[in-house]
Amino acid sequence: MRTHYCGQVGRDSAGSTITVCGWVHRRRDHGGVIFIDLRDREGLLQVVFDPDAAEVFTAAERLRCEYVVRVSGLVRPRPPGTENPSLATGAVELVARELELLNRAETPPFALDDDSVGEDVRLRYRYIDLRRPRLQKNLRLRHEVIRRIRRFMDAHGFIEVETPILTRATPEGARDYLVPSRTHPGHFFALPQSPQLFKQLLMVGGLDRYYQIARCFRDEDQRADRQPEFTQLDVETSFLSLTDITGLIESMVRELFHAVLQVELPDPLPRLSYAEAMGRYGSDKPDLRNPLQLVEIKDLVADSEFKVFAVPARDPGGRVAMLKVPGGGRLSRGQIDAYTELVVHHGARGLAWIKVNETARGRDGLQSPIVKNLSDQALAGILQRCGAQDGDLLFFGAGKFRVVCEALSALRLRLGQDLGLNQNTWQPLWVVDWPMFEYASESGGGPQAGRVRWAALHHPFTAPKLDDVAALEADPGGVLSQGYDLVLNGIEIGGGSIRIHRQEMQQAVFRLLGIGDGEAREKFGFLLDALRSGAPPHGGIALGLDRLIMLMAGEGSIREVIAFPKNQTAHDPMTGAPGTVDARQLRELAIRNTLKPETVAVG
Ligand code: AMO
Repeated sequence: MRTHYCGQVGRDSAGSTITVCGWVHRRRDHGGVIFIDLRDREGLLQVVFDPDAAEVFTAAERLRCEYVVRVSGLVRPRPPGTENPSLATGAVELVARELELLNRAETPPFALDDDSVGEDVRLRYRYIDLRRPRLQKNLRLRHEVIRRIRRFMDAHGFIEVETPILTRATPEGARDYLVPSRTHPGHFFALPQSPQLFKQLLMVGGLDRYYQIARCFRDEDQRADRQPEFTQLDVETSFLSLTDITGLIESMVRELFHAVLQVELPDPLPRLSYAEAMGRYGSDKPDLRNPLQLVEIKDLVADSEFKVFAVPARDPGGRVAMLKVPGGGRLSRGQIDAYTELVVHHGARGLAWIKVNETARGRDGLQSPIVKNLSDQALAGILQRCGAQDGDLLFFGAGKFRVVCEALSALRLRLGQDLGLNQNTWQPLWVVDWPMFEYASESGGGPQAGRVRWAALHHPFTAPKLDDVAALEADPGGVLSQGYDLVLNGIEIGGGSIRIHRQEMQQAVFRLLGIGDGEAREKFGFLLDALRSGAPPHGGIALGLDRLIMLMAGEGSIREVIAFPKNQTAHDPMTGAPGTVDARQLRELAIRNTLKPETVAVG
């Protein structure tokens, strides 16, 4: 139908007769001449309709935005002074000799260059939204990244294997999407939260190096970097150490950035222990573009009369830390109040602060609601430890370790944005040496809700650093795991671990997590059997491809790099999924809908 893509007609085509197809992007009528910007996936081409060619001209008068046409004609250089250097085809134009209308279009619900359209409208008409150059670019970037990943994995001896979508629950910490079985009434498949168990079984099966561009399903609250279905680069290997695996993955990521973005990432990538990450940044996925760091001051205030600081300072599970904002003295009370609201939202009781007006004047040079509660010695220690200068502002967090970390980490990120502190660089890192377990209370509304128990920081198949069941059982909270996360600019783009490959250790970990032998057998009997049948030492990782591509595309949400994403409520405004089903279909599945009809609507 065509000889050229619109966006690829350059100066070298001048003088030739060509045919292009595409969508009418814009129509302008100028002094009796009609100009059309014709668009296809490669870009825009200006088409000129001269009244001298009366039949074609009349046909062009009927063209509207988004009509689909085929145009043949002669390419000529644009008259001097009318070139458009911002357009790849801006030096030429196509003088139309033939015009064929391939299809009409209703007036589109939004103009393609209108960036103010609400997301639900964009998703409702995604097929039109996809015509935007930005989404076209993002999907092509996605294609390019996945193509290069496949090539890398292939070159390193990995075998791509598909694992089941209809399966049993795979514990990754979210709720499952369930699929009822017709042939086994009352029984349900779960869609995989990840291929975790299958990839481990592939190692037991001797595949040695596996990968998959795997779709995963998790029913959890939606955020900018979360979707109910998303894509992982899922990897598993046998007989490789933690250093081997992280080395391989980081060289792949480095190659990707080099080839696709011409960006050189550090070699090797920096590593931070979980303890350091929490200590300095209050986060297990620190954004290292932001220069602010938390400073511990527990020891400086433990003997203080000021209970707000002293009580958590004496509590082994407490934390007292400060965040110095260089030059922050100019922040207004209103701004400080807004930051207080932010930390309170993250669980803190309040936000103590000190403005360092003039260090030379000692206590009198400090402006703060809390200095009166602190001794000269404590104040001097605080100023010295953070190297405070005149004009700085110090924020403080005191309370339970987790709460202080979460609140000050949120504050650190917000300050970074508000004050423009973030460097414009790529900051990848590995977070390693995670604790195996944390003490957490059971969430949800189930019978165990609120009960405090050990929970795995990665998943329950992660191996401890020390392969010793007795040591693990003696001090579950003190044992580190062989887990690792890959973080880029404050976003977790991957997580993995060396796995447990001996059945006794796996059972011990299940027991510590409160999964009794009976339940373990019922849910994971196949894994335990496999571990007893000659399982090799193995380990792997999964990268969140949507997140990686979002960052590479410079987007703020993974929805911008997924062709047909769900909205914030995990609903698809275009197809209407999830939808209701016939009573007959439910009967076949032995399922009864207990909702009143009026509560069934989604939207
Ligand atoms: P994990 O649960 O850390 O590990 O997932 C791996 C990576 O997947 C991405 N990710 C998501 N992306 C979009 N939407 C979501 N809802 C979502 N949830 C996770 C993140 C994350 O780092 N089986 C293990 C991997 C392993 O141990 O090999 C796993 O799934 O970028």
